[in-house]
Amino acid sequence: MIEKIDEVRVNDFILSLSSENDYDIMSLKEYAIMHDVPIIRDEIRDFIKLIINIKKPNSILEIGTAIAYSTLIMHKNCKDATIITIEDFERRISEAKKNIEKFFDKSKITLVEKDAGIYLKENKEEKVFDLVFLDAAKGQYVNWISDIKRLMKKDAILLSDNIFKDGEILESKFLIKKRDRTIHKRMREFLKTIVDDNEFNTYLFNIGDGISVSIKK
Ligand SMILES: C[S@@+](CC[C@H](N)C(=O)[O-])C[C@H]1O[C@@H](n2cnc3c(N)ncnc32)[C@H](O)[C@@H]1O
Repeated sequence: MIEKIDEVRVNDFILSLSSENDYDIMSLKEYAIMHDVPIIRDEIRDFIKLIINIKKPNSILEIGTAIAYSTLIMHKNCKDATIITIEDFERRISEAKKNIEKFFDKSKITLVEKDAGIYLKENKEEKVFDLVFLDAAKGQYVNWISDIKRLMKKDAILLSDNIFKDGEILESKFLIKKRDRTIHKRMREFLKTIVDDNEFNTYLFNIGDGISVSIKK
């Protein structure tokens, strides 16, 4: 009997059995790797597919488009959903636009080219989205959460990626380099906020770089 399971081996084993076979998604991933664009890990890709297949959202908000890789995964796994995705980095915006042109049903996708904080403040609507995927500046999550919550419908799901920030978030603040302490503090605050919020049921998962799932009551 194996006494302690090696988590890396388990992960590799799982991924060896769950490869992506959509050619467009694979080619975007290859491009991202070649050009050093940060994208979701394969285990997060599978987790998002799982959530989307269960939830079947009609409306999705993604914060952090990059080149629209995760956007394409959501689009391909939920063809009827409308997706609003936000990116503020000029170079990524132009790449995302090209990929949207090439791979998406344009009637289903809107790329918002601005800072997510500004978009969230300007959008005064309530209860619009069934699913929110948060994958942008980690230090801003805590500042954005109340606006995100307002935009979520009842039973909507918020997925927040990279909540462990390569394991840094688990460390004591005294072991964190001075320049990274603000983000460490803010991510801890964000996690406390979503866990303590009575209007959310929140669950944290040790998948990829950590992902949280918050369901709005
Ligand atoms: C990790 S990447 C997103 C990866 C993408 N979700 C994927 O997996 O294909 C984070 C992106 O968020 C963008 N970003 C960071 N802060 C932002 C902000 N305040 N407003 C809009 N976009 C932002 C960055 O420019 C970057 O392209």
